[in-house]
Amino acid sequence: MIVSNKILSALFGAGLAALALSPAAMAEPQELAEMHAEMDGCEACHADGEPSADGAYEFEQCQSCHGTLAEMDAVHKPHDGNLVCADCHAPHSSNVGDKPGCDSCHDDGRTAESALKQ
Ligand code: HEC
Ligand code: HEC
Ligand code: HEC
Ligand code: HEC
Repeated sequence: MIVSNKILSALFGAGLAALALSPAAMAEPQELAEMHAEMDGCEACHADGEPSADGAYEFEQCQSCHGTLAEMDAVHKPHDGNLVCADCHAPHSSNVGDKPGCDSCHDDGRTAESALKQ
């Protein structure tokens, strides 16, 4: 994964580097949006904290911290130009640690593991 300066400053700003090492932080499932909001508020993803109508602004924010789909691994790269991050990592309906599946869109039994091995 691409670790940008923006990510590093978000991590250190929130002391999350220390949190990530603590077993207590892993006990409760935490919503993905909540985890980000604890670091940078709702404004991390939403302009003025308000969701956009089409999700384009939010998609840009994901990529400004994590890098673009095209720059990521073999699970992500093939979706450049056809999906946004939230199609797989819905921030308000998935948790930290979730690994999105493939079978909601592909019916040939592919998995993240099989894609990463190729
Ligand atoms: C990690 C980025 C991220 C953060 C942080 C985040 N959101 Fe969102 N939010 C999204 C995305 C992407 C969508 C649209 C897709 C979806 O519904 O998951 C969304 C949708 C919404 C919606 C539309 C209704 C819905 O649930 O679909 C509301 C309201 C909302 N967010 C409020 C908030 C509030 C309030 C906060 C701060 C507590 C927040 N969001 C933090 C990414 C984020
Ligand atoms: C096609 C579904 C899909 C899309 C679209 C997608 N992801 Fe993922 N993502 C996954 C899967 C599956 C994994 C776990 C396997 C892996 O590491 O590739 C993952 C892993 C990750 C991880 C590492 C989480 C961990 O376990 O450490 C991050 C960060 C991430 N994705 C961010 C993003 C961002 C940012 C975008 C948009 C630019 C995005 N993803 C779009 C499916 C997706
Ligand atoms: C302000 C910077 C920032 C923005 C914007 C942002 N992220 Fe993150 N994200 C982080 C940091 C920091 C972490 C924790 C370290 C890591 O796992 O890379 C993280 C972690 C993640 C993880 C891994 C969670 C796990 O399971 O460990 C996923 C998936 C993810 N983000 C997806 C998204 C998506 C999708 C969006 C846009 C809707 C988004 N992020 C927007 C900074 C950001
Ligand atoms: C939200 C729907 C969605 C999910 C979930 C999804 N994909 Fe895709 N995937 C697409 C779309 C749309 C395309 C581009 C059109 C096409 O080629 O079918 C695509 C294309 C691909 C391609 C390139 C073309 C091909 O069919 O080989 C690969 C490789 C791929 N996906 C792997 C995965 C893997 C691995 C997962 C699970 C981690 C996954 N996808 C999850 C929607 C999805």
